[in-house]
Amino acid sequence: MSKKRVLSGIQPTHNSFHLGNYLGAIKQWVELQKDNDTFYCVVDLHALTIETDPKLLENRTLLSVAQLIAIGIDPKLCTLFIQSHVPAHNQLAWVLECITGFGEAGRMTQFKDKSQKGGADRTNVGLFTYPILQAADILLYQADFVPVGEDQRQHVELTRDLGQRFNNKYKEVFNIPQPQIIKSLAKINDLQDPNSKMSKSAASMTGVVELLESADTIIKKFKSSVTDAGKEIKFNEKEKPGISNLITIHSAFSGKSINDIENEFAGKGYGDFKLQVAEIVVEALNPIRTRTLELMDDKAELLNMIKLGSEKANLIAEKTLSEVYSALGLIAKG
Ligand code: AMP
Ligand code: TRP
Repeated sequence: MSKKRVLSGIQPTHNSFHLGNYLGAIKQWVELQKDNDTFYCVVDLHALTIETDPKLLENRTLLSVAQLIAIGIDPKLCTLFIQSHVPAHNQLAWVLECITGFGEAGRMTQFKDKSQKGGADRTNVGLFTYPILQAADILLYQADFVPVGEDQRQHVELTRDLGQRFNNKYKEVFNIPQPQIIKSLAKINDLQDPNSKMSKSAASMTGVVELLESADTIIKKFKSSVTDAGKEIKFNEKEKPGISNLITIHSAFSGKSINDIENEFAGKGYGDFKLQVAEIVVEALNPIRTRTLELMDDKAELLNMIKLGSEKANLIAEKTLSEVYSALGLIAKG
């Protein structure tokens, strides 16, 4: 049986990934490398929708690549590349924009949220077309599966719609991908506001645990995490969102089931539990931080590690793009 093609992307919009990205997405990426033909992309063009100092963007892109490798994304096992190294992403995005309805794009909840938060002055057209560029990222590689967090489901649905629409209208060029969402780990919430997902755009970073921060800071964040009324360590997302979130994090790192964790901490207090979770997280993140810093010490070597990835990505993307252009009646260069 031939391997399934898997593609995912992550934005370099922050100096460090956080627990939500890691547990909700990247950890799955590592697993998937073993049995699939995997493509992982640092989507620097998507990051341009948020205006960023150029030096900072450069550094964040490199840090993203370094963190992915430190977490276990292996450029020898998968195709790891930077989105802007493959021009076909923009080229296909334009084509897809021309078959996307204005209303259809306006219904994307992430766009609605982001544009509402930022206000009309900061809402650029790129934010509006963002999901269409994402559809291009996915369709170019004929992906079968797209491992992402729950919040990206709608974008993958749009990708499917656009792929199908193109296939029906012009020619069967695209494979239609499926979202792959691991339910139990899919949502990590903010430690200070356990009813909202952990997010880089949170008003305060006290509830957001980053992969590259020091052990002290991580422990402090867990110690001051918001818990709930009562004192039992029980998983109940409605009544105990804070404790349930900590149990989810514990389970993700320790591999223990929710039941086992509840039993282990029966009769113990919130304080003990928070500290235990903090320690498990610190221990898991320590080697990731160390390896990332090592990789950042030699940036040329880091880029060298993904050179083959970008070459392979370009080959595949260009092949799909030329089929698309030809199906549309665009004249080949000759
Ligand atoms: P972002 O950093 O928002 O671009 O997200 C990168 C990836 O991590 C996406 O696949 C998201 O769905 C996933 N992700 C982000 N935040 C969370 C969270 N709090 N819980 C689970 N997955 C998340
Ligand atoms: N929009 C995704 C996010 O915010 C990132 C992304 C861009 C992506 N292109 C992609 C994810 C292609 C999966 C596949 O997380």
